[in-house]
Amino acid sequence: MDKTVHVTATARGLFAGRVVPQMSKFIIEGGRTLRGEVSVSGAKNAVLPIMAASVMADSPCVLHNVPDLTDTKIMAEILKGLGVRVDRIGPDGSSLYIDPRTLNRHVVDELLMRQVRSSVFLMGPLLGKVGKVQVSYPGGCDIGQRPIDLHIKGLKSLGATFTEEHGQIIAERDRWEGVDIHLDIPSVGATENIMMGAALAKGVTVIRNAAKEPEIVDLQGFLNSMGARIRGAGTDVIRVEGVTNLYGCEYTIMPDRIEVGTFMVAAVITSGAIWIENALPEHVQAVTAKLREVGAEITEKDRGLYVKGTGRPKPTDVKTLPYPGFPTDMQPQMMALLSIAEGTSVITETIFDSRFKQAEELGRMGAKIRTEGRTAIIKGVPRLSGAMVEATDLRSGASLVLAGLSADGVTTVNGIHNLDRGYERLEAKLASLGASIKRVLGDEPVHARLRVTGMN
Ligand code: EPZ
Repeated sequence: MDKTVHVTATARGLFAGRVVPQMSKFIIEGGRTLRGEVSVSGAKNAVLPIMAASVMADSPCVLHNVPDLTDTKIMAEILKGLGVRVDRIGPDGSSLYIDPRTLNRHVVDELLMRQVRSSVFLMGPLLGKVGKVQVSYPGGCDIGQRPIDLHIKGLKSLGATFTEEHGQIIAERDRWEGVDIHLDIPSVGATENIMMGAALAKGVTVIRNAAKEPEIVDLQGFLNSMGARIRGAGTDVIRVEGVTNLYGCEYTIMPDRIEVGTFMVAAVITSGAIWIENALPEHVQAVTAKLREVGAEITEKDRGLYVKGTGRPKPTDVKTLPYPGFPTDMQPQMMALLSIAEGTSVITETIFDSRFKQAEELGRMGAKIRTEGRTAIIKGVPRLSGAMVEATDLRSGASLVLAGLSADGVTTVNGIHNLDRGYERLEAKLASLGASIKRVLGDEPVHARLRVTGMN
């Protein structure tokens, strides 16, 4: 699939209503022990569906703890393109005011759609609210096939008719009625899309084999604050009793559990000690268990975690699974850690079919990793060494930054617009813990070839 668009070097930040990722790189001087306190931002994977859901309200919503990411900026532009008013507010700009009363379109901008995969989340809300929606197929080949057949199947069973014209998906509904849906696999996005669509359907929808991720619980919390009647999120059966209208509300987004996990690995890989604030330990139990296995000392408190590395990690095996299993979004970071373990580890990726892009890049830093399909065999080496590497997607980028923090010498991580999609002020947070990391801007060729990975 062709996932590239061409922009000129002058096209930076917001360009003609489009969010163009900034081309820049990180220069990391490795070998520093990270120590101190860091606070985690709001969860990208919670806020994106919640922003989409807000179009269903009859009055304005205010969201708090909204991370400032490329993906949230793009989602805001998509909403604005539909006629919705979106403004950053609050003393530190971390809240979002969304007024959907001026919603007057149902066609999602194609270029923006290709940049942010979660624009598919507009399908359920727009079908529920205005009865029609037009989107294009989202990008997103970089971690393997990412079909949306389960989203479509679910929305069809609620009463939508789908047609496809020139790569555009056009959906309309006449009836919009609750139904019993059994998902073939517990897809996070499909569960969310169906929940949102069903919130305004007539009667009761039951979603079986639903995904159980904490972001789904957060979406339920938001929808119920808008007047929806949903229960069961966090279990594999979700029951949605449709209501006739939803109203605006104020809601605080949950902490980003993948950012939490990334800082946990940062502590262990640098043999450091970090207090991670605004984190919910119950959301990262699978990561905590694995890091304890490799030798980390971890203390949990109410809304935080203390993580201490104790030298070279022990090897372990990791298998990614739907929540509460080990999250696929932490697999690349774990691979970076295990590449310096005292022995051989095996990682099995069961969620996505091509999520080992970081293995080759880690190899440039001296890691010994062999991949065979969905399995990676990692023979730990005592130390990694700095190199020039490429972040091909969000979490592989995180993996390379972590590797760079622990490596001897200087690591240059290119392609960090991929990291900006999902980590807020990553370099500032790492620097506050003692890392030597700086962002270098504006040194890309005039016709930069932007990878639009649709990685959210
Ligand atoms: C969400 O993606 C996250 N994105 C991903 O986060 C995360 O990796 C993933 O869940 C799994 O936890 C957001 O929440 C915005 P899925 P999603 O539908 O919803 C297959 C990150 O790094 N499938 O649960 O797209 C699919 O191919 C990102 O932050 C179908 O076959 O994930 C995959 O193999 C990346 N048909 C599996 O299900 C469908 O219609 C799980 O995907 C939908 C999915």
